[in-house]
Amino acid sequence: MQKFEQFLLDNLPVSKSIHPTYEKALHEMLIAGGKRFRPALLLGVVSSYNSLMLEGARHVAYAIELLHTYSLIHDDLPAMDDSPLRRGKPTLHVVYDEVTAILVGDALNTYSFEVLSNAPFSDYTRVTLIRELATNGGLNGMVLGQAIDCYFENSPLDIEDVKILHTNKTAKLIAASLKMGAIVVGKEDLGEKLYDFGIKLGLLFQIQDDILDVTQSSEEAGKLTGNDEDKNSFVTLIGLEKTMKEANTLANELTLELNNFDEKLKDNLSPLLTKYINRHRN
Ligand code: IPE
Ligand code: IPE
Ligand code: MG
Ligand code: MG
Ligand code: MG
Repeated sequence: MQKFEQFLLDNLPVSKSIHPTYEKALHEMLIAGGKRFRPALLLGVVSSYNSLMLEGARHVAYAIELLHTYSLIHDDLPAMDDSPLRRGKPTLHVVYDEVTAILVGDALNTYSFEVLSNAPFSDYTRVTLIRELATNGGLNGMVLGQAIDCYFENSPLDIEDVKILHTNKTAKLIAASLKMGAIVVGKEDLGEKLYDFGIKLGLLFQIQDDILDVTQSSEEAGKLTGNDEDKNSFVTLIGLEKTMKEANTLANELTLELNNFDEKLKDNLSPLLTKYINRHRN
């Protein structure tokens, strides 16, 4: 992932302007770090089948991370989760102002599609990748999830509806990361299978995030924890103990599915996936 971090530093060309803080603000959250889980999933799939394509795939991994980072910047805004800390750093609306945070989010969102449009692949592959990211990160994906999440604050939902909420706000982008890896290497059938696996993985990822909100300090998490009281999270609705059980069940199912991946994919993705599938148990 070292090369990916470098790629990210080298590829946010902001034109010179009279704005004194625009460029700095644009870089800030992106280079603050983060687990880079979604890029690692995509690059893991690509390296399983064609490591010669890794260089090109970095553009795609970057596009996903750009869109994800925009979603975090907007998620932290006062109108949404109102959080002062992200990736161990004060949030942009705290350091600068809300206008800056909103516009940096907007810029990273649109830039992610610009990056995909310039990725070094055939027109067909580029359009397919753009469609996949837009479909999962946009109006019937992450944005819908965020809309439901915020609209239903302080009004408890059924747990089945929370699964739909989590699937949209988090799982679809994670599933798309795996599928876009398969698209890069031209294995679209595998992409469909990985997408289904990724939806379950993403649901687990968000349930774990709900757990970490009550088990980790803000310092450990690098973001404000204890912040989900008004939210429809698994923990607020069914309690920590049942949430842990739900996470364990998903983790066990995913481990079995991972063991049925073809040999190369299993070898390549196992270290990463085993770590994340079990992160609530640490
Ligand atoms: C946070 O995502 C938002 C959720 C979908 C839970 P990550 O936990 O991947 O955040 P970073 O990228 O590591 O900061
Ligand atoms: C947000 O979920 C998911 C996004 C699409 C950004 P959360 O609101 O639980 O994410 P954190 O806990 O602030 O990272
Ligand atoms: Mg949120
Ligand atoms: Mg939040
Ligand atoms: Mg959370």
